[in-house]
Amino acid sequence: MSKMLMVAPCMFGVEGILADELKRLDIKNVIAENGRVFFEGDENTLASANIFSRTAERVLIVAGRFNAISFEDLFQAVKKINWEDYIGRDDAFPVTGYSINSSLHSIPDCQSIIKKAIVERLKQCYKVDWFKETGPVHKIRFSIQKDNVVIAIDTSGEGLHKRGYRAHSLEAPIKETLAAAMCYQARIFPDTKIYDPFCGSGTILVESALIAKNIAPGLKRNFAAERFGDVYKKAFADQRTKALDSVLKSFDFKGFGTDIAKNAVELTLQNAKKAGVGELITASVRDISDFEITDERAIVITNPPYGERLLEIKEAEELYKVMGSVMPKQKGRKYFVICPNDDFESRFGRPADKRRKLYNGMIKCQLYSYFKSDL
Ligand SMILES: C[S@@+](CC[C@H](N)C(=O)[O-])C[C@H]1O[C@@H](n2cnc3c(N)ncnc32)[C@H](O)[C@@H]1O
Repeated sequence: MSKMLMVAPCMFGVEGILADELKRLDIKNVIAENGRVFFEGDENTLASANIFSRTAERVLIVAGRFNAISFEDLFQAVKKINWEDYIGRDDAFPVTGYSINSSLHSIPDCQSIIKKAIVERLKQCYKVDWFKETGPVHKIRFSIQKDNVVIAIDTSGEGLHKRGYRAHSLEAPIKETLAAAMCYQARIFPDTKIYDPFCGSGTILVESALIAKNIAPGLKRNFAAERFGDVYKKAFADQRTKALDSVLKSFDFKGFGTDIAKNAVELTLQNAKKAGVGELITASVRDISDFEITDERAIVITNPPYGERLLEIKEAEELYKVMGSVMPKQKGRKYFVICPNDDFESRFGRPADKRRKLYNGMIKCQLYSYFKSDL
């Protein structure tokens, strides 16, 4: 087992939630930054973060971190990295990345300089002139923020939001990782009752059921690093066994979805079944004006239409007014609504107990939380 520095990119606003999640996995030296969380560990840590994290976008091994303001700086620093420890003679190593507020801003140029530097290093190590790149893919991801370069190797493959249960989605689905972050804020227990009156493809309900039943989000998928060698293969197998053993047998969770669209309701049921939580989730066609909660203690977590993408903003604001009337302040009730509209609280009819800035893709939103009942 080797000690490594790792980094998990996440959506903006989710850094603290992801850092807490990694600490709960007993991961050490967790440091949250803008849009990412660094941490340390070995191959087991890496497999654990990939399989168990609900809010990380992916998990990467940090191969190098340095400052660069010229292509020469970049080339020399990348060439110094001991790539032969990570990349075998036949492995593929495509390069991709981004740059923000930095002297080196041309992505294609950075990409080719980094590739060239890795090739130069590996040519000397493997004594070959040409790399076939037919073996396991070690995708190199670089990020340059204010001239600080992080060069890392992707261990996830497909983004971690791809849990494997959402075959199809409707317009404007929320990302699984963001839905999970909202669920963490709402604090879900094995006996929680969750309602989503704008359930769409059911992402929030499925993510909350996975949390309640303690089903690891990565249980049903594969990861790039499983092809990095025997140590990694074993680490993933061990963590998968651990994940299977931790699924709860006894729980009383229920998720109730409603949506005005019949195809949304069908999709919610289909996705829930595919995620292995079909028996915990019911869904039916219903307009928000007919929304009702039948449980004394219930949490509403929802992602209503915003207007930019689905309806005109004015129509969306009318919906927020209706939401306020069907979601009254009541003992045992908690409401969590993600929305970009600055007037949400006045339309809903009361100020939130807490606001948290979260990005839904590129849209800056707030998670409006209503949890104080004091009645
Ligand atoms: C932003 S989408 C929700 C996406 C969902 N979180 C997902 O992951 O797929 C909003 C949903 O609100 C539904 N909707 C729009 N107007 C409605 C209304 N008056 N009553 C109930 N649902 C409505 C739409 O059909 C759509 O599925």
